[in-house]
Amino acid sequence: MTDSPVDPVSTAAWARLRALAEGFAPDLRRWFADDPDRVARLTFSAADLHVDLSKSLLDGEVLDALLALADEVGVEARRDAMFRGEHINVTEDRAVLHTALRLPRDASLEVDGQDVVTDVHDVLERVYAFAEKVRTGAWTGVTGQRIHTVVNIGIGGSDLGPVMAYEALTPYRQDGLECRFISNIDPTDAATTLAGLDPATTLFIVSSKTFGTLETLTNARLCKAWLLDGLAGHDAADAVARHFVAVSTALDKVAEFGIDPANAFGFWDWVGGRYSMDSAIGTSLVVAIGPERFGELLAGFHAIDEHFRTTEAARNVPLLMGLLNVWYTNFLGAESHAVLPYAQLLHRFPAYLQQLTMESNGKGVRWDGSPVTTGTGEIFWGEPGTNGQHAFYQLIHQGTRLIPADFIAVANPPYDLKDGATDVHELFLANFLAQTSALAFGKTAEEVRAEGTDEAVVPARVFPGNRPTTSIMAPELSPSVLGQLVALYEHLTFVQGVVWGIDSFDQWGVELGKQLAQKVGPAIAGDEDALAAQDPSTRALIAYYQEQRTR
Ligand code: F6P
Repeated sequence: MTDSPVDPVSTAAWARLRALAEGFAPDLRRWFADDPDRVARLTFSAADLHVDLSKSLLDGEVLDALLALADEVGVEARRDAMFRGEHINVTEDRAVLHTALRLPRDASLEVDGQDVVTDVHDVLERVYAFAEKVRTGAWTGVTGQRIHTVVNIGIGGSDLGPVMAYEALTPYRQDGLECRFISNIDPTDAATTLAGLDPATTLFIVSSKTFGTLETLTNARLCKAWLLDGLAGHDAADAVARHFVAVSTALDKVAEFGIDPANAFGFWDWVGGRYSMDSAIGTSLVVAIGPERFGELLAGFHAIDEHFRTTEAARNVPLLMGLLNVWYTNFLGAESHAVLPYAQLLHRFPAYLQQLTMESNGKGVRWDGSPVTTGTGEIFWGEPGTNGQHAFYQLIHQGTRLIPADFIAVANPPYDLKDGATDVHELFLANFLAQTSALAFGKTAEEVRAEGTDEAVVPARVFPGNRPTTSIMAPELSPSVLGQLVALYEHLTFVQGVVWGIDSFDQWGVELGKQLAQKVGPAIAGDEDALAAQDPSTRALIAYYQEQRTR
């Protein structure tokens, strides 16, 4: 699908939105007072997710214009092309089929002459069989001991998803089996992660789509050396075979690295790295939570895929959320977007979303190579509530920037604790609700004065309100709900990308740094020619480093 993107700016809907934005004076207090149906009208369900958009800066006219924009730029047509397996990743000439990773076994989807559902389930079966062996102790290390620690070595999409989900699904982990994650090429990461581990009971999963990523291969070599050192006396090939498995699309490179292809799990170039946590890249997670729970996670993803694929536009949650972000970004001047989970176990979710959203939509050209005609991308960031409340919420409440925020909470906490008679989870939720309410409705000068505040301090204590939030709630943080949340953000990212006309599935912007690092390395190590090729600032920094380095 290489057709040119529709220029959003040329559409009638864009002109309408621009006109609406000019005179836009959001007044959530009045909107709520005048429209008793606002909450019902703007609350939607997608599988188990309950999504309340009523505290958004959205009125009927804006919503209609956004839906018209989606129509004019062809969001639904491109969505359907994605689900069909057309090559909508234009710059890499690839299909985009992370949705196929969660199709049920009895589904069928032929892409480029290949039944991908069979392929997906064949690999899943192998991953599940391997995970069961580790979980039951049938898989032993070279000394015959069972595995107690699984270390995933990967970075970006080969790390962030598994870590995030491992943390989020803590209550579902098997006792006595720990997962650790090494991603950074800072040697501190490998050193601290391996500290205290017994090589005899440790198994490494080298996760890399390309199996060419410097960080991952370096860390894999460090871990191999650590393992062989700790298991000196055992046959090295045997030790690697019992303690190393790999996940990659490049099985030839896996073999070159010395890992038996029988211990490797594949996936396909139609799965982007940041969309791969539900492929074999999730093997560490399967070991931790087991195949059954992982299957529930996949079913959760699929439920939202189906919602996105089949629900009419006016009730389609990823579509509405993606369009809302376009409204904030392109018409109301928002530059960043906070994601604030009121669920401690989602503490890595904002970090995960940073790659998903920013690597996808941080682009300055469209899929036909022409420059974008609008601002693109948003800076996603966040921390779990209530920690964030005591750090940066001040700026969201009273600062000069517009920061739309997604608040995420579950009704049933994984750990139910009481402080005397007080249900601590309810106290936690009270904060979620108080914050979203204060952001929407603010506090007027009259209300501040009515509290007897000294007049000089009144302005500082006024809250302007009309700070937009989306409230996302679910019954509990189950594997299925986690899959639903991830799929929701995958698809809203896609919607934004289509509006902007960009290829949300390539990532050329990270390539340059990788290439340059290969050239700077020799300069640091003392190669005169390589040093001379650097810019003056880089040469000076290298000189400082060399002076300071004492070990
Ligand atoms: O950061 C660039 C990137 O290519 C990501 O898209 C990817 O998730 C990450 O590097 C890791 O790549 P790989 O899985 O091939 O090691």
